[in-house]
Amino acid sequence: MTRFAFILHPIKVADIARKFGIARYLPHRLIEAACARMPARLISEISGIESPTGATTEGWFVGCTLTTRQFIEGNEERSVAKVIEAAKMAQDLGADIVGLGAFTAVVGDGGRRVADAVDIAVTTGNSYTVATAIEGTLKAAEVMEINPGEATAAVVGATGSIGRICAHLLADRVPRIILIGRSRDGLDELAEELADRDTEVEVSLSPEESIPQADLVVTVTSALDTVIEPEMLRPGAVVCDVARPRDVSVRVAHERDDVLVIEGGAVAIPGDVDFHFDFGFPPGTAYACMAETMILALEGRAEDFSLGKRLSIERVREIADLGVKHGFGLAGFRSFERAVDDETIKRIKRNAAAR
Ligand SMILES: NC(=O)c1ccc[n+]([C@@H]2O[C@H](COP(=O)([O-])OP(=O)(O)OC[C@H]3O[C@@H](n4cnc5c(N)ncnc54)[C@H](OP(=O)(O)O)[C@@H]3O)[C@@H](O)[C@H]2O)c1
Repeated sequence: MTRFAFILHPIKVADIARKFGIARYLPHRLIEAACARMPARLISEISGIESPTGATTEGWFVGCTLTTRQFIEGNEERSVAKVIEAAKMAQDLGADIVGLGAFTAVVGDGGRRVADAVDIAVTTGNSYTVATAIEGTLKAAEVMEINPGEATAAVVGATGSIGRICAHLLADRVPRIILIGRSRDGLDELAEELADRDTEVEVSLSPEESIPQADLVVTVTSALDTVIEPEMLRPGAVVCDVARPRDVSVRVAHERDDVLVIEGGAVAIPGDVDFHFDFGFPPGTAYACMAETMILALEGRAEDFSLGKRLSIERVREIADLGVKHGFGLAGFRSFERAVDDETIKRIKRNAAAR
């Protein structure tokens, strides 16, 4: 059996407080400083994953103790060293492949430096994250009765590892795409890559001006704070928020009952999986990046799969096909940590039509 591990880290200080009650009463900076000094830790064992092919796998969650803020604002060398320490723990536990969750995949050149430092395979999970984000966005467009063939799409964080390939895949589906980011050079370079597609490509440094033009938005920045606010969204828009922490302000959930915001990458896992750890998803489901690591383990492919800042479309298609082979699939829409039912979709559509 090929075994896997997956590295998690607290997205916010509140995640630490959920685990250690005392943390609720202490200043955030103090908690972060204390956690940063803690070594990597075994969080739980993961059991019960079984593919329809009969292949099985099991693994571990390993915790890296830095928060998102520490990853973004802290010393990159220290962050990479902490991720390597967690990956070495995965190796010592007996994993053949380790997946990197959230910001542990963003630092260190998209996992490359971790891969150089350990003797087991490493993947960021970003290829399957892209595959499920695009699949989810197109399914959400369908239920909202948006025809991609007539829609404007926007990718926020388009120059990033995940954003770039999302832009490539969406460019094949829509007649107009807006690439939104912070670096004019990076956006121009991506626009150049898409120049031969049969779609109008625009670049933008202003989410405020460009998001209101989009019917479909995939947002995947590595920002610490939210980038999409209620007043930016057009009635009836679909937004797929892949970023962790979220790009879409929670105000959207309260103030916009006429748009559909879905979480990118919630995947149903085959078999009777038990994570022995609550990371906020319903039983039997996981983030796409976790799922990629499991799929590779089930396939016996302990190899560096998604690494670095330039993912390939071929790998996205390959892992999507392997996901189908092993019984993985989208787990239904979730929005701000809740399942979205048919009634909610009907209400959103009614409200959008009335605006
Ligand atoms: N849902 C899942 O299963 C899943 C899986 C993997 C990753 N993720 C999440 O996906 C996100 C992106 O990951 P990645 O590997 O693609 O990261 P990345 O390669 O670092 O790309 C992030 C992009 O966001 C842009 N950005 C950063 N801060 C911004 C801001 N304040 N406003 C606008 N744009 C900003 C960056 O622009 P610059 O180039 O200018 O810095 C870059 O283009 C992270 O939040 C990560 O946690 C989610």
